[in-house]
Amino acid sequence: EKGGYDHFMLKEIYEQPQVIRDTFRGRLLSDQGLIKMAGIEDNLNKFINAKRIIIAACGTSWHAGLVAEYMIEEFARIPVEVEYASEFRYRNPIINADDVVIAISQSGETADTLAAIKLAKEKGAFVFGVCNVVGSSISRETHAGAYTHAGPEIGVASTKAFTTQITVLALIALRLAKAKGTMSQSDYLRNLIELELIPEKVQEALLENDKILEIAKIYKDAPNCLFLGRGFNFPVALEGALKLKEISYIHAEGYPAAEMKHGPIALIDENMPVIVIAPQQNHYDKVVSNIQEIKARSGKIIALVSKGDEQVKNLADHIIEMPNSTEALTSIIATIPLQLLSYHVAVLRGTNVDQPRNLAKSVTVE
Ligand code: F6R
Repeated sequence: EKGGYDHFMLKEIYEQPQVIRDTFRGRLLSDQGLIKMAGIEDNLNKFINAKRIIIAACGTSWHAGLVAEYMIEEFARIPVEVEYASEFRYRNPIINADDVVIAISQSGETADTLAAIKLAKEKGAFVFGVCNVVGSSISRETHAGAYTHAGPEIGVASTKAFTTQITVLALIALRLAKAKGTMSQSDYLRNLIELELIPEKVQEALLENDKILEIAKIYKDAPNCLFLGRGFNFPVALEGALKLKEISYIHAEGYPAAEMKHGPIALIDENMPVIVIAPQQNHYDKVVSNIQEIKARSGKIIALVSKGDEQVKNLADHIIEMPNSTEALTSIIATIPLQLLSYHVAVLRGTNVDQPRNLAKSVTVE
């Protein structure tokens, strides 16, 4: 049942090239420059006329929501707010009939997310679901939706659900950009073509596995760990930290790299591993200066870099290479090494990787 892998989590990490492809199959028609998703087409006017999109989710799905916020705002220029479903439902939020609410949930059973949907519906908003489990409560409670095609996710720590959520949300953001005319045709087409290449690039990122295992051996006993990223990779840093804490029980925090100097930098000494997501893209120079700041305080730097990077290689203690994509879609690729790192650290520490203590796969009570 684990298909030759030691754990479901590892199997599910390695399934990502396939399930990402399954998720865009039939929806992404890059040769025609089209995206076709019934749930979006049938409700296109609601999205186009939305004054605002509110995304409600929990945990890893909330991180996918943050990536979506950056994509929808940049591509389609619609204001987006991302809310923890548990906060949203209890704070008497302002919801109008011309708001669109997107609920993201792997299981489709998370109690707080379900309650947020019910509240949004009561206030007259249009509610769209991004779920993995077909026929789940959230998929039934929403007005329309688009499934991720990740297949059953057994490991409690979410992996393939997250990258397929980003895939669906990228399709939505690009479709809305096309409808609103907010993106140049060349940027739009480039993202379509790059999305189609993501499965093979994820496959390539997986090839760093042995190297990541060696890094895991060095840092497996660290009591703390920081994850830093900017832009689309800021939510990936949060997700990397969540993965590490939930399966290895190492205290970890994710931050936007520039926030480091507003507090967390005080934690940095020679015992602090800092994982920095540093692809050669928009924020590259800024991330390089963040890396220099960590180095000046003797922090241990594990950097995720674009293939062939030389500058960061000379500064970091360890580098993990990954293929480049568009700024937005690199978030999917950068997730992979972080999943593998947490996995190996957890296995080396002897924890129950697939069923970490105190956690349940779907949180059906608030
Ligand atoms: C993290 C994890 C949880 C879930 C969260 C939401 O690895 O699994 O944080 O992401 O409980 O679950 P869903 O997506 O099923 O609503």
